[in-house]
Amino acid sequence: MKDLFRRKSIDELVDHRAANRLRPSLSAWHLVLLGVGAIVGTGIYTLVGIGAERAGPAVIVSFAIAGAVCAFAALAYAELATMMPASGSAYTYSYASMGELIAWIIGWALILEYSVVCSAVAVGWAGYAAGFLEGFGVHLPAALIGGPATEGGLVNLPAILIVAAVTGMLLIGTRESANVNSVLVVVKIVALAIFVALAIPAFNAANFEPFSPYGFAAHVDANGADRGIMSAAAIIFFAFYGFDAVSTAAEETKDPGRNLSIGIIGSMVACTLIYMTVAASAVGAMSFREFAASSEPLAHILRTLGHPQAAGLIAAAAVVALPTVILAFMYGQSRIFFVMARDGLLPHQLGKVHEKSGAPVAMTIITGVVCSLIAGVLPLATIAELANAGTLAAFIATSAALMILRVREPARERPFKTPLAFVVAPLAIAGCLYLFFSLPTVTQTRFFIWMGVGLVVYFVFSRGSSVLGRRG
Ligand code: ALA
Repeated sequence: MKDLFRRKSIDELVDHRAANRLRPSLSAWHLVLLGVGAIVGTGIYTLVGIGAERAGPAVIVSFAIAGAVCAFAALAYAELATMMPASGSAYTYSYASMGELIAWIIGWALILEYSVVCSAVAVGWAGYAAGFLEGFGVHLPAALIGGPATEGGLVNLPAILIVAAVTGMLLIGTRESANVNSVLVVVKIVALAIFVALAIPAFNAANFEPFSPYGFAAHVDANGADRGIMSAAAIIFFAFYGFDAVSTAAEETKDPGRNLSIGIIGSMVACTLIYMTVAASAVGAMSFREFAASSEPLAHILRTLGHPQAAGLIAAAAVVALPTVILAFMYGQSRIFFVMARDGLLPHQLGKVHEKSGAPVAMTIITGVVCSLIAGVLPLATIAELANAGTLAAFIATSAALMILRVREPARERPFKTPLAFVVAPLAIAGCLYLFFSLPTVTQTRFFIWMGVGLVVYFVFSRGSSVLGRRG
């Protein structure tokens, strides 16, 4: 029984001088860009529409709530990532604070999060890609741009193709991918700035009336639709995370004490400011009912306002730049796998890294295949919500780990200290729980089924093959 809660020591976690250590090559600047690259994506480009459908103009409040919860969790991540600059993010923090079983559960939740985030962003990308091609008179058949749940849909081919392309990039190597990422992040931000500049002149206060047509709490209306500010917040939450992908790069970071806190907090603050501006501009420019159902809401708004070229530009930017999000999460995913395999909780052969590129090849390919399968058949809201459930679990574990380690290892050096940790961490946990229970019941059920499968895998395989277990 005791072995379920065996813990890895922090010194051991950060000291993997073994042959399969990842190479430190990333700077603070790379990390802020990796962070913004991972955060700004389908959440603001597409889910802003679904959020508005659920909350009306009060979707702005949903953004504020989801952003605040994420900000609290980001502070916990910054402290732990700088204190333990080892790959593995919430999984690693849990291993050091709450022991192997909880670490496994969180690692398993992260596997879900990272895979489905990639798939969700690929589906969001496909919406803009189809609209973009449409601008050139290329009309893709409905059967090929949506899974079976969409009208006339069979398989989302563009989503599958983009996942395959990103997988290929990752196989070439981290450094190259990070440089490409930097350029694309700029494209993505400039496009949002153009959107705001064109939407603000169309601002009409009447579009904010009634501000909150569906009320605060998450609920299902008479037509079976999810409604309420909290229901929107539970899906909009998707837009804010990605900074945790920065912490999974800890082992490959130069001067991690300084660079990781700049990377995590800098990218989080920048993105929150951008989102509030974009969401307020969108809702102010047009009645939310007119853009909520679009699969490319920002382009749709500009087109309706009479700016077809600018709409094309936004679509083009989304097409070129949203893959940075897939890149960052797929990178995070392969590293989580890598660390779990190194710990013996997943089959050891999977942790092998390529000599030249430093990429864990087998894991990257498996991740690519699974992500494209999910992206090919499932609708956006379903996958985004599932990704949120996994992320919320990881955020809760990280906030708990922060408090546990403050008590257990008060003297350990902390290059970044979360201010008011015993206020911030409980607020993060409470906020995450509230968001989790605002997700649709079916999402919560799917999440618990995934976790149940994880427990079976742990007791059948991982517990016996754990490196820590065999040694102890
Ligand atoms: N935050 C990322 C996005 O919005 C996952 O796409």
